[in-house]
Amino acid sequence: MKHTYILFSSITLLWVSLVSCSSTPSFIHPKVPMGQLEDIRSIANPLPRTYTVIADGKTLYEGKGICARCHGLYGDGKGTAAKNFHMLPRNFKNHHFWTKRKEGELFWIVKNGSPGTGMLEFQSLLTDQEIWKILRYTETFPSRSYPSDHITPTPQPELINPLQGAY
Ligand code: HEC
Repeated sequence: MKHTYILFSSITLLWVSLVSCSSTPSFIHPKVPMGQLEDIRSIANPLPRTYTVIADGKTLYEGKGICARCHGLYGDGKGTAAKNFHMLPRNFKNHHFWTKRKEGELFWIVKNGSPGTGMLEFQSLLTDQEIWKILRYTETFPSRSYPSDHITPTPQPELINPLQGAY
């Protein structure tokens, strides 16, 4: 009897946790495995926000990484291939999005993809360093006004002078 009770409670607990995960709106629903979420969220981008890193990220985003085809040249989620997916590519211009995701989570998603959506896994195409560079570029989208070819890095205080005139 006691065993049946314990079994029943565990099943109920599992069910409740599964339902609470899946009923969270998809916008904030974590894409990484639940059990690894905290570890993954604690990983920070090892690259600085310098002009070179961001410019490299832009080249990769628009070229080798093919991100622009879905997420759009301007990061608004309206790339030419976007219409093929029932779930739209993330709009990187959305400020709210950036408050919900940590760098480590974004890195993990680009590496491993988001199963069941058009978001592929890029670990076979891009190195870790290339992914971090792209992420340094994508994080600049909300603060930029388009259309323009300009890269507007988010300057860190100590980098403001070296960057002057660079863009
Ligand atoms: C074939 C289309 C396609 C390509 C190419 C693509 N993405 Fe995505 N991406 C998507 C879709 C669709 C989603 C939404 C998936 C979701 O919400 O689970 C998404 C979601 C994302 C997310 C957000 C996941 C979250 O936390 O909600 C990030 C970050 C991302 N993509 C980065 C990239 C980067 C960087 C590249 C290029 C290396 C790239 N994507 C290339 C379609 C694409």
